[in-house]
Amino acid sequence: MAKSHTVIGNCFTKEFTLKSNHDNLYNLLTLDCDKIFTAASWSLDQFSKLEKELNEIKSRLNDYDIKVWQQHTSYTNLAHDIVFQLKQQCYPELCTQAWAKFYEILHRCNIDQRLNLQQWSDDLDLSQIPLSSLHLCEGPGAFMTSFNHYLKSHYPHLPWQWLAMTLNPYYEGNKDGSTITDNRLISKTLSHWNFGRDNSGNILHRHNMTFLVESLSQWPSIRLVTADGSIDCSDRPGQQEAIVSPILYCETLTALRILTKDGVYVLKMFTSFQHRSICLIYLLLNVFQEVKAIKPSCSKSGNSEVYIICIGYIGFNAIPKQFWDNLCANYGLEDRCISLFPLDYIPVPIIDKIYTFCQYFSTLQIDAIQRNIRLFDTLNKSNRKFISKAKKAIAKEYITRYQVYEIQPEKKIVSSVDVNLSRRDDKFKSIGSKAGSFNQRVGQTKRKWSESVNDYNIPELLKIETAPCSSRFPRNRIFREEICNLQWLHCNDTLIETENWTRTYGFYPAEICNSCFASNELLLDVMSARQEQSRHKQEIKTIDNYQNHSLSPTFYSNSCYKSIADILLSVTKTGNQSKYVVLSGKVQHILSNICNQSGVSDDQVKVITTSNESTPCSTYFAISSTSELISSFDSCERYIQETFKAVDIVFADFHPESIKERASQTSHNKLILSEVLLACKVLAMNGHLILTVGDLLSRFQCSVVYMLHVFFNKVSILHSIDDQIRCKTIICCGYRGPDTLAQAISHLQQTLSMVSILRHDEDGTNEVDLLCFVPISLLTDEGSEFYRYIYEINNRSLGFELAVRANKE
Ligand SMILES: C[S@@+](CC[C@H](N)C(=O)[O-])C[C@H]1O[C@@H](n2cnc3c(N)ncnc32)[C@H](O)[C@@H]1O
Repeated sequence: MAKSHTVIGNCFTKEFTLKSNHDNLYNLLTLDCDKIFTAASWSLDQFSKLEKELNEIKSRLNDYDIKVWQQHTSYTNLAHDIVFQLKQQCYPELCTQAWAKFYEILHRCNIDQRLNLQQWSDDLDLSQIPLSSLHLCEGPGAFMTSFNHYLKSHYPHLPWQWLAMTLNPYYEGNKDGSTITDNRLISKTLSHWNFGRDNSGNILHRHNMTFLVESLSQWPSIRLVTADGSIDCSDRPGQQEAIVSPILYCETLTALRILTKDGVYVLKMFTSFQHRSICLIYLLLNVFQEVKAIKPSCSKSGNSEVYIICIGYIGFNAIPKQFWDNLCANYGLEDRCISLFPLDYIPVPIIDKIYTFCQYFSTLQIDAIQRNIRLFDTLNKSNRKFISKAKKAIAKEYITRYQVYEIQPEKKIVSSVDVNLSRRDDKFKSIGSKAGSFNQRVGQTKRKWSESVNDYNIPELLKIETAPCSSRFPRNRIFREEICNLQWLHCNDTLIETENWTRTYGFYPAEICNSCFASNELLLDVMSARQEQSRHKQEIKTIDNYQNHSLSPTFYSNSCYKSIADILLSVTKTGNQSKYVVLSGKVQHILSNICNQSGVSDDQVKVITTSNESTPCSTYFAISSTSELISSFDSCERYIQETFKAVDIVFADFHPESIKERASQTSHNKLILSEVLLACKVLAMNGHLILTVGDLLSRFQCSVVYMLHVFFNKVSILHSIDDQIRCKTIICCGYRGPDTLAQAISHLQQTLSMVSILRHDEDGTNEVDLLCFVPISLLTDEGSEFYRYIYEINNRSLGFELAVRANKE
C-alpha cells in the first residue's frame, strides 16, 4: 500500500492541460469549412490500441455480480466519505457526488478569477447585473446547489441567476433509464428549468436548442455553461464513447451558441479514443484560450469520466457563419460513418497532445480497476485499516482544501423546504436497477413483459380475494354494498385560486413511456403488451377471466351493473325525479337502461349525441328521438337551461377507442374539457357528473381529474373489466357550484380556448400542443391525497390490464 499522504495528494491532482494560456489561439478562419462532415470516419492505431487495452481490463469485470462489485468499489473508493462528511458537517443542499465534484471543479479551475467574481461583487454598477449561468443535462440539479453554496460562501452579495435544461422527468415521451426521476429540486424551482420547444428537455433535438437560445435572448450574457450529460451504458461499457458522443456534440454546440466572449465552459467527457471525441476536443481547442481536463476526487477512479474545463471563449460572433452552419448540419444526428473534420485537418502536435491526455487518464483508470480486482481477492485487515484511515483523511482534506462550511438555510436555492428529504425515485424503483454479472445479463434476452407479471403482486394490487364459488359479480344485479365501498377522493380546498396558474406546452409524445402518476416499471410492461398484442391483433375479453373473482370495488363490470346509471343511482341516492343529461355516443343503450330502471320517464332525460358520421369531437350534435337538434356545446348549454333550468346528473361517455394521431388527441382533449365545462354550467348545486375516459397517465388527463376533484365534493375512479380494458369512469358527486368555483371554471374555459390555438415552430412544421394546465407541483405533491389516489388507481388499472393481457398469451 502507498503512503497515505501520497494517496491523499493524488486524489486531488488528477488533471491534464490540453492547452495553456501561452499556446497560440488556433484560428478557425484558416479552416476550410466545406470540409466539415464530409470525410469518412477515421481511426488512429495508437488510440485504438489504448482503447483495446482499457477494454481488455474492463472485460475482466464481466463476471462480477454488478451489485456486489458496486458495493466493493464503494468500499475501496478512498473518496467515498466526502459526501457523507459534507452532509454531516456542512448540510449542503442536494448533496450528491455531483455536488462535491462541481464544488471541487470550481476551486480547481479558479472560477473566481476566471469570472472576475471579486470585481463583479465589489463593483456597484456591475453588481446590478446578475451573474448568469446555464446548466445543460443537469437533472437532478446538484451543480446549481453546489455553485450557489460556493457563491453564498465567498460572494454573498453577488446576484446570480441560472437556467437549466435536462430530460424532463414529467414528459411522458421520455424513456425511463436516461431520465432522472429525482425531482426534488426541479419541482421547487420549475421556472428555472427550460424543457425546450417540445417540453422533453432533450438536447438532441435542434428545436430545443433554438428555443433555449430564444428564451435567453433577454438575459444578461451567460458567463458559465456546464454540460454534465450522460446515459447509463453499463450494459454496453465498450461503446460508451460512441453512445454519448451525440449528446456531447449537441451540448457543445448549444454552449458555443449561448456562452459570452471570455466565458467558461465545463463539459463532462469520457474516453477520447475515437474520431468524434478527438474532433470535438480539437474544436474546443480552437475556440477557447485554455483547455484543461480534471478528474475530481469524488469521480470514481475506475470510470472514464473526466471534466474538460474550457476558459476564455472567443465568442459566437468570432465563429464564421458558414463554419457554424456546417457544424449545425449534423446536430443531433448519429451518423457514425462521417467525421466532423478530416484527419489531415488536425495538426499532428495536437493529435499527439490528445493522445498523451488519453494515455494519462486511461492509465489512471486501468490502475484503479486493477487495484479493485486485487483487493476483491485479497482484502485483509491491514488493507481495511488503511482504507478506513485514508477515507477519513481524504474527506477531511476535501473540506479543508475547498473551505466548505455551512451556509444559512435562507441562502439556499430552496430555502423553505429541505430538498434532501423526499426522493421520488426511491418509490419509483428504477427500471435500470440491474442484477447479475455483465456476462449473465448479455446471455439473457430482454425479459418479456409476460414474464414480468409474476414480479408484481397482482392479487394485492387488485385486492382479489380467492375466488369464491358463488360469484360476487352475478350478472344483472346491482351490488350497492360494493358501491358504498368505493374509494373516494375528497375535496379539501374550500376556495381554489387559479390566478397564477400557468400552462405547459410542447409536443404530444408519440407514445407514453413514462408517467409520474404510475409505477414506471408496470407502465412499461403494459405498453409493451399493448404494442405486441395490437401487432398481432389479439382480442382481449376480460369478463370471462374475472367474473368469478371478488375484485376491489375500483373495478366494475357492465354485465354486473347493467350500466353506469346503476352505479349513479346507488352512489347518489338520487330519487327518480332527477333530471339527466346524457352526452353520449351510445344513445340507445344508455337511454333504455336509464328509462327502464327506477321508473325514470322520458321527459326527465335529454340525450345529446354526435351523429354517426361525425367524429366525436364534432360540434354538430344530432338529438335522439326525444329531443331537438343542437349545434354546439354553447347552444347545448342554452337548450338544457331552457328545458330543465338545472340538471342533477350529467353523464358523458364519449370514450374514443384509441387516440394515436395528434389531431384526434387535440379533439379528444377539447371534447373532455367541453364536457366538464358544460357540466359546470348546467349542473344544479350538489349535482353529479359521470365521465368515461381512457388512460389517466398524462399530465393533461390528470389535470382534468384534478379539476374535477376540486369541482365536486368527492370523486371516485372506476375501472372497467369488460372488453374495453382501458376504460375508466370518473364518478363526481356533489357539484360545489359556480360561485365558489368561478376562478377555476374561468381557468378551464381559457384552457379550452388554448387547446385549439396552434403555435408554430420557426419553420412552420411543428405545432405546439397544450400538455398541462394545473401546476405540476400540485399534481405531483406526494403528500397530497390527490397524488396518492391517482398513483394507486393507475397502478391497479395497469396491474389488472397486465394480468388480463398475460392470460391471453
Ligand atoms: C450525471 S446526470 C447530471 C447530474 C447533475 N449535474 C447534477 O449535479 O445533479 C446526467 C443528466 O443528463 C441527462 N440527459 C441524458 N441525456 C440527455 C439528453 N439527450 N438531453 C438532455 N438531458 C439528458 C440525464 O437525464 C441526467 O439528468
